[in-house]
Amino acid sequence: MFIDTHCHLSYEDYADIDLVIKENREAGVKKIIISGCSESWIEESLKLSRLYDDIFVTLGYHPSEVGTVTEDMLLDLRKQLLDDKVVGLGEIGLDYYYGKDNKDEQLELFEKQLKIAEDMNLMVVIHSRDATEDTINCLKKYNVKGVIHCFSGSIETAKIYVSMGYKLGIGGVITFKNSKLSEVVKAVGLNNIVLETDAPYLAPTPYRGQQNSSKNIPIIAEFIANLMDVSISEVASITTKNACELFDLN
Ligand code: NI
Repeated sequence: MFIDTHCHLSYEDYADIDLVIKENREAGVKKIIISGCSESWIEESLKLSRLYDDIFVTLGYHPSEVGTVTEDMLLDLRKQLLDDKVVGLGEIGLDYYYGKDNKDEQLELFEKQLKIAEDMNLMVVIHSRDATEDTINCLKKYNVKGVIHCFSGSIETAKIYVSMGYKLGIGGVITFKNSKLSEVVKAVGLNNIVLETDAPYLAPTPYRGQQNSSKNIPIIAEFIANLMDVSISEVASITTKNACELFDLN
């Protein structure tokens, strides 16, 4: 069995969610964790999690939501996070890819949510793009653990996160030509990764550029199995165990 630990599922992107869930099951992807990371996505993710046993959620405000998130919304988030299907807080973090103009606001929103995770004893899903140093410094201030979603850094950075108790979220990017992620996975080993698609984005080769879906998790697992010279079922069992421990799933 596989778990897709990070995807974005919504009616805006997928006309037939019944079909998505059916295809996931047929591919062996029995649980998926939707990241609801804007006000409307939080609502929709919770609704979907009530409709399907397979769906769990993490909730939190993505750095791209900076400027729209009020104190009232953060109070609401604390209540929304109490839902039975919530397995963590995220994705939250820092994104300097488009510039650092709103860096202070990003840091403020990130730290407020790290504080909520610490208070509520929730694991966190971290989005960090071109912001490694600030991300590590923020995480060190709070007693939290979690996953570095869509990890894309160096072996050295990977080892720092692992030493802090984080797992690396590995998805379709590892299958891309020129990706350096294979070296990272070899360096940290299967015990320190979880599988994710980030669907509808980042479909693995040979579907790169097309709409992604959780059913593609086995493609990522097969790539990693070849890389590590182990069976695909071993990749499935280790990464599923990692995900169950991290997200407190059975
Ligand atoms: Ni995402």
